[in-house]
Amino acid sequence: MTDVRLLVQRFDPFKDEEPRLVEYKVPKREGMTVLDAILYARDYVDHSIALRFSCRQASCGSCGMKINGRPRLACYTQVDELAGEKVVAQPMENFAIIRDLVTDLGSFFEKHAEVVPQLVRSDLQEQEHPTSEYVMKPEELTRVLQFTYCIKCGLCTSSCPTVATDSEFPGPQALAQAYRYTADVRDEGGDGRIAILDTPHGIWRCHFAGSCSYVCPKGVDPALGIQLLKRHVMSGHAPRKAGEGSPTAKAGIPAHGPGSGSSSGG
Ligand code: SF4
Ligand code: FES
Repeated sequence: MTDVRLLVQRFDPFKDEEPRLVEYKVPKREGMTVLDAILYARDYVDHSIALRFSCRQASCGSCGMKINGRPRLACYTQVDELAGEKVVAQPMENFAIIRDLVTDLGSFFEKHAEVVPQLVRSDLQEQEHPTSEYVMKPEELTRVLQFTYCIKCGLCTSSCPTVATDSEFPGPQALAQAYRYTADVRDEGGDGRIAILDTPHGIWRCHFAGSCSYVCPKGVDPALGIQLLKRHVMSGHAPRKAGEGSPTAKAGIPAHGPGSGSSSGG
């Protein structure tokens, strides 16, 4: 059995002046992920290694880190797929380090919340006393589907050069979600989102570096979402009127039956 040379960046802001790389030897096994290797080091060599993880299946988004220089999910990266003799695990860029591999995602989630990432509608009566589903056609779902796959891991934001230089920029994750809901035919909140984003530190600060889309582990293309959002603003797109994308009864579409299933909103 060969060993993996695992180097983990260690840093405790309350004790350390500078981050440092510490090497651990980890017995390699077939199919071993970088998360497996770090957990081995934590469990058998040094219990004080701090990292964040949960699902171990690329679903929860908590194990984002920089691995051999590139933002990746540790649970979704096999040791064997990495080039070179070493595995180097470091915290994500563009976020403050809490300890070791754990970063502070507070501002990331605040920016996500600021773009109102949910369906906004004025038919409160229907929401309180639903008579039917809010439906969308398959082609309307296709327009936003890839953006619903976002697991909020932060990898795209950690790779963004604009985030690195402008702390007020919402970042690719939040902007892609702003597009995801604004482009949803059932939503009426586009005007409110655009008012927040059509600002000096908003969508126009994106210079289309494209690194966000390059590193996304879920096939989301945040750079595309941002450009589509820009087009939405430039075209003076009329906001949807209340009632469009309305419940099936109002749209004259059968509420039940083949193809009538509604999306949960992603
Ligand atoms: S867009 Fe991709 S990289 Fe960015 S937070 Fe969502 S899943 Fe992660
Ligand atoms: S542990 Fe959940 S995405 Fe990696």
